[in-house]
Amino acid sequence: MKILTGNSNKHLSEKISKYLKNRLVNSSIKKFSDGEIYIEINENIRGNSIFIIQSIASPANDNLMELLLCIDALKRSSAKNITAVIPYFGYARQDRKVVPRTSISAKLVSNLITKAGADRIVTVDLHAGQIQGFFDIPVDNLFSTPIFARHIKKKIKSKNLICVAPDVGGVERARALGRKLDIGLAIIDKRRPAPGKSQVMNVIGNVKEKICVIVDDIIDSGGTIVNAADALKKRGAKEVHVYVTHGVLSGEAVEKIKKSKIKNLVLTDTINNLDRVKKARNIEVLSISNLLAEAMKRISNSTSVSDLFK
Ligand code: R5P
Repeated sequence: MKILTGNSNKHLSEKISKYLKNRLVNSSIKKFSDGEIYIEINENIRGNSIFIIQSIASPANDNLMELLLCIDALKRSSAKNITAVIPYFGYARQDRKVVPRTSISAKLVSNLITKAGADRIVTVDLHAGQIQGFFDIPVDNLFSTPIFARHIKKKIKSKNLICVAPDVGGVERARALGRKLDIGLAIIDKRRPAPGKSQVMNVIGNVKEKICVIVDDIIDSGGTIVNAADALKKRGAKEVHVYVTHGVLSGEAVEKIKKSKIKNLVLTDTINNLDRVKKARNIEVLSISNLLAEAMKRISNSTSVSDLFK
């Protein structure tokens, strides 16, 4: 087993490598002056099982291309098998045609990764579980729910908790966390009047005097979560805590969260933005590295990955 890292999240790759006591493969990833990416693996990997770690996060197009070129280089260097570890699987939000004449980027990206030569995918909290079926190779979709549940039990010492799904698409995720914590569920009826804009229409469930725990897979512009927190507060919620796996945090998102009614936003490090969030008093980052490392170890030893979530 050998581990190669792309440039998108070296911090996470180094943590995984440390946990597994397995150094990162010596490689060079450079750019030509016109922006083309050039990859060179500087050591023999013939016959090895290789895990390439790369999130498809901003700059998404460069990081995706880097991933594809790394897989291609590994294949052409006679790696025995290639597992693409994609902590944040970008381009997943376009997983169906919501209006006519649009693309389904999640399917196209799945095709590209498979065609490049990946034998297996490991990812965390896919935007929609069905995306696993876009691949004809095994996909291990890991969940951050156990990490979040542990943190909530340790930090929020109240019996008056309720789990909140910020939109209908997030109900399954919120229910899973609610089940782990043995608490009830509320659902926000969110509409998107235009791309990037979100509007709360209604809150289903009683949140009065409750400590609300919103759980979501992605925070991008922050609109969904900030509006959800406002709506919950307006309906009498005592505190709003938010748990999100992938901190895309584009544009003014961090500023928006700092000024919001959110008491604490907890993210994982599937996307490396520690520098951007370190000055925000209400944002905390938990590492997903041990979970990913354990899954990689189990894949390498052909033992169960799902046992990690029992
Ligand atoms: C939507 O289905 C996702 O789960 C997130 O709620 C969404 O991507 C968040 O986007 P934003 O932060 O821009 O509202």
